[in-house]
Amino acid sequence: MKAQIRGFDVHKGYLDKLSQTALIEEIRRIAAKAPMLPPQTPGGKPMSVKITSAGKMGWSSDKSGYHYTSCHPNGTAWPAIPETILALWHQLTKLEREPDCCLINYYGEGARMGMHQDRDEADFSWPVMSVSLGDSGLFRIGNKIRGGATESIWLESGDVVIMGGDARLTYHGVDRIRFGSSSLLSKGGRLNLTCRVVV
Ligand code: SIN
Ligand code: FE2
Repeated sequence: MKAQIRGFDVHKGYLDKLSQTALIEEIRRIAAKAPMLPPQTPGGKPMSVKITSAGKMGWSSDKSGYHYTSCHPNGTAWPAIPETILALWHQLTKLEREPDCCLINYYGEGARMGMHQDRDEADFSWPVMSVSLGDSGLFRIGNKIRGGATESIWLESGDVVIMGGDARLTYHGVDRIRFGSSSLLSKGGRLNLTCRVVV
């Protein structure tokens, strides 16, 4: 089922259980080579999510700011974006161009993400595709400028959101997760993948 919420295309239940499980295996393989780490905000505070990436570029944050890099802090190149994710991207965005980065966020118990725009990419005419796996997360969608009215929806395992077009720079964040609401990850938590065209 597809719904438009404040310009975002929300595909509820897009991935079945089998595809979700297969994706978790892919993410495990990625994290084995490029371990998930807690980034620091530009202000020097640790973020509550842990992150890693796949693709030509990986997103990171530290005291020098937000940026894309061509390798993990441990020096290894980012693993390739899994074929299944690329297929999903082509299917839903109808684009031939592949994403340069698949950022992987892990939300453990109590993790959240403040309201922000995805604006470290060069060209905002490309959409961002977000895939949710595991525990449900309360996703808040705001406006193109900070503040104002917002709308919240629970993103559940298998939901896919396309943030593009006029809504590409819409503020969004994750207020909280329902830790333990899904059995997809044996230790609980929520994974979110966002695919981006960076350069
Ligand atoms: C993000 O905005 O980077 C993550 C969104 C989400 O976790 O659903
Ligand atoms: Fe974002």
